[in-house]
Parts: sequence; structure tokens; C-alpha cells
Amino acid sequence: MNDAAWTVRIEGLSRFFGTLKAVHQVSFEIHPGEIFGFIGPNGAGKTTTLKILATLDDPDEGDVWVGSDSILEAPDRVRGRIGFVPDRQGVYSNLSVREYLDFFARAYSLKGEKRRKAVEAILNFSGLEGLAERNCEELSKGMRQRLSFARALIHDPDVLLLDEPMEGLDPRARIEFRELLTVLAQEGKAILISSHILTELAEFVSRVAILEKGRLVTTGRVEDLARELAPAPVVRLRLRDGQDPAAAERLLVQLPGVRRVEVEGQVLRVEGDGEAPEGDRLVHALYGAGIRVQSFDSQEANLEDVFLKFTRGDLA
Ligand SMILES: Nc1ncnc2c1ncn2[C@@H]1O[C@H](COP(=O)(O)OP(=O)(O)OP(=O)(O)O)[C@@H](O)[C@H]1O
Ligand SMILES: [Mg+2]
Repeated sequence: MNDAAWTVRIEGLSRFFGTLKAVHQVSFEIHPGEIFGFIGPNGAGKTTTLKILATLDDPDEGDVWVGSDSILEAPDRVRGRIGFVPDRQGVYSNLSVREYLDFFARAYSLKGEKRRKAVEAILNFSGLEGLAERNCEELSKGMRQRLSFARALIHDPDVLLLDEPMEGLDPRARIEFRELLTVLAQEGKAILISSHILTELAEFVSRVAILEKGRLVTTGRVEDLARELAPAPVVRLRLRDGQDPAAAERLLVQLPGVRRVEVEGQVLRVEGDGEAPEGDRLVHALYGAGIRVQSFDSQEANLEDVFLKFTRGDLA
């Protein structure tokens, strides 16, 4: 893209359906080269937001900018810079995969050799080469998802909007899909991808926005959110019968990296500051003081817990 400093800026976006505030004052930015996760439960307003970004619906408040182009002022220019993969696959007419992609290439005014090359490149990139002559209607759900993705990329957009693209993909297809997205991000595209499931995206998105009942609950890097909101990482130690939990507690609280110790019978719950304390180290320290441990286990911060914590409150 020409101006290296462009971003996608979503500013104070609202969409009302009667009295329902489907999207309310939502603001965040996505940078070129970034894969950004848009997370929320059913009805949170993800699709409504994405449709506005894709210029298929108008906001009641706010605006969206792609670089210096606004969806209100220059929807045609924005449309040319955006590729949208909707959550539902459209009805396919009686076309082959190649004809279908060629049709959309024409719709984006690609001509002659340039159009032919664009179609071949996208068939290749999306792994649809072997299916090029197949009728679209014969495709399986996962193949259709690929085709929808290919269609969204045919005009080489700067911004890719994906509404729950992982749904219906088998595990291998998910991995391949993630790899494709990573390549596209490395090319400098800004990618917004929605999902109900934080853990589905956590490994490959740089940042997320969590939406609930139309409002943005938080935005940030996944690691930061997990650290901020996850229950503190803990190690649970079970002492052998006859061992003194109070003595074990006195020793453990003095160890570096230990924030808190709770005693329940023969079980000690050891909370670390930041990272989970290493179970081996705790057992070793206790052993040195003559205290015997029967077993221990660690509980890592669970991302789904973080997500549930965010989306449990009633924000409406
Ligand atoms: N055209 C419409 N008319 C009236 N209400 C609508 C319309 N479109 C969406 N809504 C309402 O807006 C809210 C947000 O819907 P939206 O489809 O954006 O949620 P979502 O986050 O995409 O949910 P899901 O995860 O189920 O796809 C819902 O309460 C929905 O019923
Ligand atoms: Mg939706």
C-alpha cells in the first residue's frame, strides 16, 4: 500500500435496531501486518460491526477509516481496499470454481491478463487449484469456506474481514488456514477475525477486542489479558499423612516467587507472583526440611476462564 502508516480506525461505532443497541460506541484500531481477534458470545454485535466495516450497512454513530478513507465519505474506495468473508456462504450459481473467481475479479474491474493472473494466483494460494473446474455447488462446506476466502482476496485488499471463518473446518484445514493468514499478515494486510472462542485464536492473533452486548469490554494483547485476569497460577501440594501442614506453610511463604499459601487439611495451595511456582522446587525445599510430599500438580491460567470472566457481567 502507498502510505505505510495507514491503520484501520474504528471510532465510536454504534448501530441501533429500534431500542436494541446492537453495537454501542465501539472503538479500536488494527495495524497493517496485524491479525486482530474479535471475540464475543452470540449476539454480541460482531457480525453487525463487520458488516459496517465491509460497507454493507451504515452506522448510526461513529465512523471507520482505512488510512485516510472513511466508510461514510468514501465507501467505494474503502470497498476496494477490503475483502470480506461473511459468516454464511452465499448461494452459488451454476459456475465452476474458476468461473466464480473470474466473475468476482471482473466485479473488481480487473481486466485481461491481469485478471487471469489474479485468478490463477488465488487458486494456487488458497489450495483450490485441483478443484478449479468443479461446479461450486458440488463443494463441501470446508471447500466453500476456502472459496469464500479466495473470493475475498481476489482484488488483493489491504484489509481482510473474516466472520467466524474457522467454523466447519476440520483440524487440518484450520492449521492451513492459520498459515495462510500468517502469510497474508506478513505481506502487510490488516486482518480482523471474529470468533466465539478466545482459545481458537489466541495462538496466532496479536491482539483481541472482546465484545459483549454491543460494548467493547476490553482490548489488548492476549498474554496481557490472560495475566491481568486469569486466576493466579497455583501449585497444589498434598502432604503425606502425619506431615505438619503449618510447618510446610511457614517454609513455603518464605520462598522466592511465592505470593500466598493456603492450607486445606493436608493440601497446600501455593500461589506464585506472576508465573506458577515450580512444583519440583517446592517439593525439594520441603524435603530439605524433612517434610514429605505425596503429590503435586500445577494449574495454568486458562484462557477460557479469562473470556468467561469478561463476558459474564451484565453490561447492557
Ligand atoms: N437486521 C437486524 N434487525 C434487528 N436486530 C438485529 C439485526 N441484525 C442483528 N440484530 C441484533 O443485533 C444483535 C447483534 O447481532 P450480531 O449478529 O451482530 O451478533 P454476533 O456477535 O455476530 O452473534 P453470533 O455470534 O451469534 O454470530 C443481536 O441481538 C441481533 O439479534
Ligand atoms: Mg455473527
